[in-house]
Amino acid sequence: MKGLLDGRVVIVTGAARGIGQAYALALAEHGAKVAVADLLDPAETVNKINASHPESAIGIAVDVANYASCEAMVQKTLDAFGSVTGLINNAALFGVSAKQKGVQMRPFTQIPEEDWDLTMAINVKGPWNCCKAVVPHMMEKRYGKIVNISSQTIGMGTPMILDYVTSKGAVATMARCLARELGPYGIRVNALTPGFTQSQAVKDLMGSIGGAGDAMTAQYAAQACLGRPQVPEDLVGTAVYLMSELSDFVTGQLLNVDGGQSHTGM
Ligand SMILES: NC(=O)c1ccc[n+]([C@@H]2O[C@H](COP(=O)([O-])OP(=O)(O)OC[C@H]3O[C@@H](n4cnc5c(N)ncnc54)[C@H](O)[C@@H]3O)[C@@H](O)[C@H]2O)c1
Repeated sequence: MKGLLDGRVVIVTGAARGIGQAYALALAEHGAKVAVADLLDPAETVNKINASHPESAIGIAVDVANYASCEAMVQKTLDAFGSVTGLINNAALFGVSAKQKGVQMRPFTQIPEEDWDLTMAINVKGPWNCCKAVVPHMMEKRYGKIVNISSQTIGMGTPMILDYVTSKGAVATMARCLARELGPYGIRVNALTPGFTQSQAVKDLMGSIGGAGDAMTAQYAAQACLGRPQVPEDLVGTAVYLMSELSDFVTGQLLNVDGGQSHTGM
């Protein structure tokens, strides 16, 4: 059977774990070749994909805050698969990992300047770097699909994580501007705003604030039209759609996927 993404090659940044891993698995399931790029070891995602779709994934060590690293990521993808059709800018300073302390909840006046700068370097400059590295190739082909992963927090105005929410607002705006600049070259650029999603990163973050975290998780689920917590797999259909030809006349848009939580909660 023909897959929706047969012949397409997609780079997913931040795909070693969490929601990025879910995007990568789903893209491969629909026929894409996937470059799994992360600061963390991407082996788990790559092995999962190649076990069911042999030679469909490669792992790439990347630091999206570093332009040379992004250029190397694109070149490795071209060397392995011959082209790059899509880019999902999913990597972000968000969850705690062996390499990062993750997003912190605190009043905006207490954000250290170095934390603010690091968040912007990864969450804003990172997607810019990845776009700069991949766009020349897409321009040559006069076709490309880019998705910036923003967050529903930008509509909610979620307090106590100003550095993170501000960075997610920036990548939504970046997608809108790039859609205008790159449309003439056949490159579509959209932003996806996930709701509060039960990735391991969110579970760890909520766990770190004890009972308040449980209450917040229950509150978000109750506010959603669909009345249950959001999981990473709830997001993958929209990512597959945005990487497919089905969305070829969709660009410059902000697609919100949150089970209707913001519809009832804003
Ligand atoms: N979980 C949610 O509720 C939620 C809601 C809205 C948006 N998002 C966004 O979805 C994305 C994935 O979130 P998640 O919940 O899976 O969290 P996560 O922390 O597990 O995912 C972020 C990934 O990015 C990687 N990364 C961090 N810095 C990097 C760098 N400099 N270079 C390359 N990779 C780097 C991390 O190693 C990690 O694998 C993030 O962009 C996040 O902002 C999450």
